[in-house]
Amino acid sequence: MPDREHNVVLLGAPGAGKGTQAKMLSNELTVPHISTGDILRGAVAAGTELGAQARGYMDRGELVPDELVIAIARERLAQRDCAQGFVLDGFPRTVAQAEALGEVMDELERDPLIAVNLTVDEDEIVRRLSGRRLCRGCEGIFHIDDEGVEDGGECPDPDCDGELYQRSDDRPEAIRERLQVYRRQTQPLIDYYGERGLLVNVSGMGGPEEIAAAVLAAVRGRG
Ligand code: AP5
Repeated sequence: MPDREHNVVLLGAPGAGKGTQAKMLSNELTVPHISTGDILRGAVAAGTELGAQARGYMDRGELVPDELVIAIARERLAQRDCAQGFVLDGFPRTVAQAEALGEVMDELERDPLIAVNLTVDEDEIVRRLSGRRLCRGCEGIFHIDDEGVEDGGECPDPDCDGELYQRSDDRPEAIRERLQVYRRQTQPLIDYYGERGLLVNVSGMGGPEEIAAAVLAAVRGRG
């Protein structure tokens, strides 16, 4: 059990490696990984009312309305497993969401959060997103250039035989839209957290392990 709260927000463009790093960091800190994208994709797959409301926005690469996503985050952060911290991946994504998160943290009397901004070149982002493949079994995140990853193939993890698939929003038109939405609506959060002294920039270029060490050092170096 960690001796102090680790309340981490991962910022970064689509494909910056937030999901990859969030899984590693949440294992290291033993706090939950909360991805609003995963929660929304789960709702779409389960055919719930939330999924029906979110699906069109997601397929087009647009943001799901703030009120839906804020309600999801509010409910999830109040759960007991978040008492010692969390790694938020994909939330907040607008200033309104960041303000709502601040309110929730105050209501729950939580320690200040740290926002880690993963910086990655745009050419690399497009390469990562267009080659991303996911496993339906273990939910692992892979790339078509990784060893053992093939279209229509099975998960490269020897302990899993799940099917690999490509996300519907990893098509070129949706990738372009997501990058524009990121610049317009999410990039302002870098200044939002910077002005409050809560931001750390970490290069997202390089191997996942090397980046994970830098992210962990940034998070541990605080508080
Ligand atoms: P979401 O699921 O949050 O997607 P995203 O922000 O676009 O981010 P990605 O999941 O695409 O990328 P990532 O940064 O996690 O990269 P990853 O680790 O997978 O959101 C999807 C949609 O849901 C949104 O468009 C929106 O509609 C909706 N939504 C979600 N949250 C919302 C919110 N708060 N408000 C409103 N709407 C919301 O890595 C990408 C690839 O790169 C992989 O193939 C991976 O293997 C590879 N890779 C990772 N790290 C490295 C590395 N270091 N070197 C080489 N390759 C690497």
